[in-house]
Amino acid sequence: MATDNNKFQAIISHCKEYGFIFQSSEIYDGLSAVYDYGQNGSELKRNIRDYWWRSMTQFHENIVGIDAAIFMHPTTWKASGHVDNFSDPMIDNKDSKKRYRVDHLIEAHAEKLALEGKKEQEAALLQSMDNLLAKDDFDGLKKLIEDNNIKCSVSGTANWTDVRQFNLMFSTQLGSVSDEANEIYLRPETAQGIFVNFLNVQKTGRMKIPFGIAQVGKAFRNEIVARQFIFRMREFEQMEMQFFVRPGTQKEWYEYWKAERMKWHLSLGISADKYRFHDHVKLAFYADAACDIEYDFPIGFKEVEGIHSRTDHDLSRHQEFSKKKMQYFDTEINQNYIPYVIETSIGLDRTVLMVLSEAYAEEDLSTADKQDSRVVLRFPAKLAPIKLAVLPLTKKDGLPEIAREIMDTCKKSFRCFYEEKDAIGKRYRRMDALGTPFCVTVDHQTKEDNTVTIRYRDSMQQERIPIAEISRIINEAIDQ
Ligand code: GAP
Repeated sequence: MATDNNKFQAIISHCKEYGFIFQSSEIYDGLSAVYDYGQNGSELKRNIRDYWWRSMTQFHENIVGIDAAIFMHPTTWKASGHVDNFSDPMIDNKDSKKRYRVDHLIEAHAEKLALEGKKEQEAALLQSMDNLLAKDDFDGLKKLIEDNNIKCSVSGTANWTDVRQFNLMFSTQLGSVSDEANEIYLRPETAQGIFVNFLNVQKTGRMKIPFGIAQVGKAFRNEIVARQFIFRMREFEQMEMQFFVRPGTQKEWYEYWKAERMKWHLSLGISADKYRFHDHVKLAFYADAACDIEYDFPIGFKEVEGIHSRTDHDLSRHQEFSKKKMQYFDTEINQNYIPYVIETSIGLDRTVLMVLSEAYAEEDLSTADKQDSRVVLRFPAKLAPIKLAVLPLTKKDGLPEIAREIMDTCKKSFRCFYEEKDAIGKRYRRMDALGTPFCVTVDHQTKEDNTVTIRYRDSMQQERIPIAEISRIINEAIDQ
């Protein structure tokens, strides 16, 4: 059975072996912190994306979705503050020339202390780091690294440069002339595509405050310490929603969205003790409240989603830089104002990793006379890449034809998989490893009475059901 530490490695290997996630450009030795989703991973990711999208734009009548371009006018990023402020304190090791994000370097050292059982030292180190980060005290951070004798993992030395800020945005050139005027950025967050479209959506949708705009899309950050599989990537996907409210009501809405988002997380079938809220120690200068929802990954509690009360900062800045009024006329109070914003921002890839971490299980099924085990992905049916496997017991006697008829009926409603190779037990195990919640087996009795054996992934129990019942059972499970 994998321990928590090697469970993470086991999940990474499983993802590769079963077509969930591959290293990008693997045949060229890969590209660091960039990943491709395979045939099963892309379905899982799509199901999570669709579930989020539906819960925002379908379950909330006052939220609409958009799909803005990745490239945006460069002034967007000046207005948003990303050109000047989207940077992290970094430190370089002079011997290996390797660059580290200061907080990641210190956190990695804190993790080591925790593993050695030095819990008090770990807590003290993290507390000192938080205090210094909150004050932007770079000299203090360097001293903390030196005092704790934190070493570079490559050179093994503690020969550090000063701590400096490093911008995380990728830039490229628009058009054929490469001069500064044509420099544009790959968006580091999807949120700004929503802010610059605030007026378009409000006016064309005749939206009344409070209302939200949701978006799912790619974001890019030149992460320096990019490790931990799809937890921290350079190209990733965000699912963001900006909720526009009347100034003065933002605290209530902040609390509302904290509760609402936690409900969503619990609806993934993950228990409450696997989550916690983490209030930000250092608030961005424009935020009046911010927290993360953290999940207990095999690598420890880490951020999956941020909930931020962003005041009227973004719209005010876009008004200032674009000279276009970003105002809303509130007929209830007869006033014009720039709305305040509550943002919910969740990483799609991190959610995939969370769902995989929660689902992955190695089970010992040994009995007194037989050693046996299985790896199973216990996905909620609504997120599973394949909902139903249709398995004729043999390749002859007309069984494949009946199985094909079941496929043809069911595949209109949900994703099915047909398999006639190998012994039935082996096929079940393969479906367990892909997280398929239901298998139906067509056998000789099917020809007599139009029934099949349905096998449930989690309990491994089997029962006989009429063919006519298959769709209903699976649709009910998907709807939960
Ligand atoms: N618009 C607000 C914003 O972007 P953030 O906390 O920087 O806030 C939001 O990012 C979420 O995006 C995070 O909670 C995380 O799930 C995801 N995310 C951020 N950086 C990421 C990265 N390098 N790789 C994967 N996911 C990332």
